[in-house]
Amino acid sequence: MSHDLLSVGDLGADGIDEVLQLTDSFVEVSERAIPKVPALRGKTVAWLFYEDSTRTRLSFETAARRLSADVMNFSVASSSVKKGESLRDTVQTIEAMGVDAIVVRHRSAGAPWQVAKWADASVVNAGDGWHEHPTQALLDCYTIRQHLGSCEGRHVAIVGDVKHSRVARSDVLAFTAMGAEVTIVGPPTLLPPSLEGWPVAVSHDLDSVLPKVDIVYLLRMQRERMASGLIPSLREYTARYGLTRRRVDRLGEDALVMHPGPMNRGVEIAADVADLPRSVIVDQVRNGVAVRMAVLYLLLGAGSDKVLTGVEGAS
Ligand code: NCD
Repeated sequence: MSHDLLSVGDLGADGIDEVLQLTDSFVEVSERAIPKVPALRGKTVAWLFYEDSTRTRLSFETAARRLSADVMNFSVASSSVKKGESLRDTVQTIEAMGVDAIVVRHRSAGAPWQVAKWADASVVNAGDGWHEHPTQALLDCYTIRQHLGSCEGRHVAIVGDVKHSRVARSDVLAFTAMGAEVTIVGPPTLLPPSLEGWPVAVSHDLDSVLPKVDIVYLLRMQRERMASGLIPSLREYTARYGLTRRRVDRLGEDALVMHPGPMNRGVEIAADVADLPRSVIVDQVRNGVAVRMAVLYLLLGAGSDKVLTGVEGAS
């Protein structure tokens, strides 16, 4: 892996495979009685979250702690950002204290690329606007591999609010790089205005797609990002695109149901469907920790540019 993880597209199939293989070892570590290894002792990982998050933030923090890194928590809500401090000054302040990696989530697409230009530390994109969410795509690939052997030759339907979804963009890049076929499904108003260059098929009819897929991947209705009027009503959305109990019966026997969380039960996914054995949503969260351990290890651990530079500097 290079110095930063900004887009999952930068990894390519080989890079994704490297992360997934290393993740196997960290799943094993996570299952131990004391799930901790000294791999990143002496390293410091800082969080720069300008948007709300439950699982991504806790998952990165757990990953860093399990690798014995020190963590620097930064909460925008209680920081000098509230006094008008710019992103650049905030990054310089954090760097001046000595950090090895900065994990960034920001409402603006491209913000992590800016941070990477300013910072010497490795930068990990934990979600930028509607753009990308590379570690979510990696944990999704890992979860598919765990349940179905690999992504190769699998057919994934990504359903719902694709337009506002950074998860969808990263998943399309990662799934297709790993040899899967992707169909995006949703009402035209919730799909990106231009799909030119996207290696996907498009459908507006969920019922006809379900019998053909190995994985149905539901997206949250991201109402905080939506202009009004994109759908007539949530009830109508659910009637056409919600994964109801009745629709699950159209799926093949081994087909999986996935969702990045947070779920709106009763909107994009029926409450009882989320708890079916074929729903691997909790596995996605569990795998997220081990995948992020692998990412932090590849960026900061043995063999990374950073470590080699540090060794040279010390001699
Ligand atoms: C997603 C996000 O924030 O991009 N959640 C996550 O990280 N698991 C998806 C969402 O907010 O709907």
